[in-house]
Amino acid sequence: MIKDLQQKIIELKKRNDVCILAHSYMPEEILEVADFSGDSYALAVKAKTAPQSQVIMCGVRFMAETVKMLSPQKRVILSNPQAGCPMAEQMDKEVISEVKKMYPGYAVVAYINTTADLKTVADYCVTSSSAVKICRAIPQKDILFIPDINLGAYVKKQVPEKNFKLLSGGCPTHARIERSDALEAKKLHPSALLLVHPECRPEVAGLADYVGSTTGIMDFALNSDAEEFIIGTENSIVQHLQYRRPDKKFYPLSKDLVCHNMKLTTLPDVYACLTGGGGEEIFLAEETRVKAVKCIERMIALGG
Ligand code: 13P
Ligand code: SF4
Repeated sequence: MIKDLQQKIIELKKRNDVCILAHSYMPEEILEVADFSGDSYALAVKAKTAPQSQVIMCGVRFMAETVKMLSPQKRVILSNPQAGCPMAEQMDKEVISEVKKMYPGYAVVAYINTTADLKTVADYCVTSSSAVKICRAIPQKDILFIPDINLGAYVKKQVPEKNFKLLSGGCPTHARIERSDALEAKKLHPSALLLVHPECRPEVAGLADYVGSTTGIMDFALNSDAEEFIIGTENSIVQHLQYRRPDKKFYPLSKDLVCHNMKLTTLPDVYACLTGGGGEEIFLAEETRVKAVKCIERMIALGG
């Protein structure tokens, strides 16, 4: 049944000149039909270079908006219209414009998990895998980092030569994990390495053997000589790693590390996008797009 639907999707995407992009949190059966899968940074770069005239983004809304900003001539479809990122909605343009007045001269560095509207008042965009590199590279010493306080704290530690002002937003999924959860998981699996996403709290990241993006965590685990790993990001990554290396052991840091938004997209949703019966086409006002895309293009220029 799944194989039949995947075959139909592969035929339709080729016939209709569609590129399917999938975030690493998507289920295995979607990754298998995607032209490309990866973390937020890799998806943003791929969005710019994909040759197809249409893109289906299997992920959350800000990821589809990023594709549209970088490739306005393309038809961009978000595979499940309900899939948003709660962090992206936490801060709005008006509030940040007021905060900027309180910190004149500061560079506004916005996590890519923000709306297109909010990006219009940001100087630089970052992803979890590019944030340290970008914050080091930008000319300004003073940085107003929005919205994720945990990613901001992690970057601040790696870039001590800069002065950071952090605001208190964050990912409800990763921020729910406490130091006691990490200590408990380490006690249960004493031989395992702990790999966590920087959206986790500093007291959790501080216990980790590796801190990095979804792709970073997967690459680390796949290339490591170690046999056991506790995975401190969305639990789909535990499953992907277990498929790729059945000889190693992967444990979720917590059974609560589930992003319900990322879980919304299904293989039938992807099929429905291709047959015109589902998904949502992304439209952005040109004035918003032109302003918002600048911070993303600066990130790609500095991030390589
Ligand atoms: P990545 O940058 O690792 O893709 O993370 C995006 C995200 O939403 C993690 O929760
Ligand atoms: Fe947003 Fe967190 Fe889900 Fe990532 S895991 S999409 S940051 S809510």
